[in-house]
Amino acid sequence: MITLALSKGRIFDETLPLLAEAGIQVLEDPEKSRKLILPTNQPELRVVLVRASDVPTYVQFGGADIGVAGKDVLIEHGGQGLYQPLDLQIAKCHVSVAVPAGFDYAHAVRQGARLRVATKYPAIAREFFARKGVHVDLVKLYGSMELAPLTGMADAIVDLVSTGNTLRANNLVEVEQIMPISSQLVVNQAALRLKQLPLRHLMDVFARACHPEA
Ligand code: ATP
Ligand code: PRP
Ligand code: MG
Repeated sequence: MITLALSKGRIFDETLPLLAEAGIQVLEDPEKSRKLILPTNQPELRVVLVRASDVPTYVQFGGADIGVAGKDVLIEHGGQGLYQPLDLQIAKCHVSVAVPAGFDYAHAVRQGARLRVATKYPAIAREFFARKGVHVDLVKLYGSMELAPLTGMADAIVDLVSTGNTLRANNLVEVEQIMPISSQLVVNQAALRLKQLPLRHLMDVFARACHPEA
């Protein structure tokens, strides 16, 4: 049995068509069912639903053999014990710095101001500001980062930006892009040795779906 870890929402929705190209179908809809283990039309493949930020942990500790996780999540996790063979080019966005529309970020940085930055991504933010030589106090949040500057809790946020709609709706502007994000296939290294054949087959399914010429 091969266990594939996915998170509900965009990762599940964007992974489904890749599997479908090889005729693999998940037999239950996570939006309708409360089940966390979903069968597929392949008797030897099942899907487990976990929080997006838990996918690397499930694969690292063998709760799943393979999974799909955003690079943002993988960087914060650290990637220990994970083989990362393929960029699936799904769930694409950026990690960016954003500030309230009236705030002169460039000026604050030039002045050497100490910035309070709210984020769900402390590892990415710490590394980015350290490289720039900007002093920051990081405030760890688990969601709704946009609210932090609006309530005066932070000067800036480090968050994911795709269309920019969330920033615009909250009167924030993107001032720097830190890195592009897409989702990676992650594989448990021990499982890859023990279940070599079926895992290589599934990795090929994903590779063909996102690089059809290969
Ligand atoms: P949770 O609800 O458990 O806190 P989450 O908000 O991180 O999880 P998703 O929003 O489904 O869960 O995000 C999963 C992954 O999809 C992220 O890790 C990121 O790589 C990518 N992603 C997040 N937001 C966007 C977006 N607006 N556009 C494109 N990709 C995104
Ligand atoms: C994500 C992210 C941003 C938003 C950016 O939130 O955390 O808030 O998308 O996308 P945009 O630039 O296209 O507006 P998500 O939709 O995942 O909601 P969440 O708060 O439930 O994570
Ligand atoms: Mg989200």
